[in-house]
Amino acid sequence: MTRHLINLADAGGDAIAAMLNDAIDRKAARAGFPKGKADADAPLAGRVLAMVFEKNSTRTRVSFDVAMRQLGGSALTLDSGTTQLGRGETIADTARVLSRMADVIMLRTDDHAKVEELARHATVPVINGLTDLSHPCQIMADLLTVIEHGKALPGLEVAWLGDGNNVLNSIVEAAGLMKFNVRIGVPEGYESDAGFIANAQAGGANVRVVRDPAEAIRGADVVVTDTWISMGQAHADAKLAAMAPYQVNDALMAHAKPDALFLHCLPVHRGEEVTDAVIDGPRSVVWDEAENRIHAQKSVLRWVFGQL
Ligand code: CP
Ligand code: NVA
Repeated sequence: MTRHLINLADAGGDAIAAMLNDAIDRKAARAGFPKGKADADAPLAGRVLAMVFEKNSTRTRVSFDVAMRQLGGSALTLDSGTTQLGRGETIADTARVLSRMADVIMLRTDDHAKVEELARHATVPVINGLTDLSHPCQIMADLLTVIEHGKALPGLEVAWLGDGNNVLNSIVEAAGLMKFNVRIGVPEGYESDAGFIANAQAGGANVRVVRDPAEAIRGADVVVTDTWISMGQAHADAKLAAMAPYQVNDALMAHAKPDALFLHCLPVHRGEEVTDAVIDGPRSVVWDEAENRIHAQKSVLRWVFGQL
């Protein structure tokens, strides 16, 4: 059966652990290599990744391209503005054609149903490069970063502050699969997907929504936030006002554990969801997190090809 990574549950906890171990090993094995040099074993030699972007991207685009080079393969970047997708060619037909021309497809899109449809009609693996619902590849990089910085996943206390968005949904999903806990500090009306929370709780994770930002962050090992206005959402003053108390600043960070890590998927809106002092401060690991998109996705790519 063709393996897809639409959400983290498609892989499950054991495969996620295997991918994270692989990422740690492969990252160490190529220390000091120029970024575009292939790994010694070039496990995806000759394979082509087709990336389709219906939304902007810096990290996802570059990290998947570099990941494929390091695995010995190659990648090409498509967008709706310059392909027939933008003129109404269907997702299903695009899936059929790209399956004949590429070995794996990545899609970033506004509507989660589109990546599911692509996977239904593709005969090669499909990877979710962000939808309105979830961002699984980001969370693979986040988990890798947390482990690299010496924190084990089981029992980890993660605090989320701000908007209940796609990134949070994948963190919550990971909590259920990897057995860590999430305290979600969100204002009323901006909660994340209830289905992901219910699944994580059924998986044994302690996932709670709280209104008080200090309560959300108290004793946290890891503090995470993201933009208050995601791509495709309208700018709304009411939303920004509701989010203001959830800004991650030094006063709020004082409630976390002294060695708490700060994560942000980027791009950041400095002075909104986080202050410069926090994101540029000693507890921030956001640049490691960004680099780890490459290392984590290499292992995702190996997993969809059945190599893990
Ligand atoms: N974090 C992330 O997915 O960044 P891009 O939007 O730049 O790809
Ligand atoms: N929540 C953000 C993540 C960007 C990587 C968005 O969807 O725009």
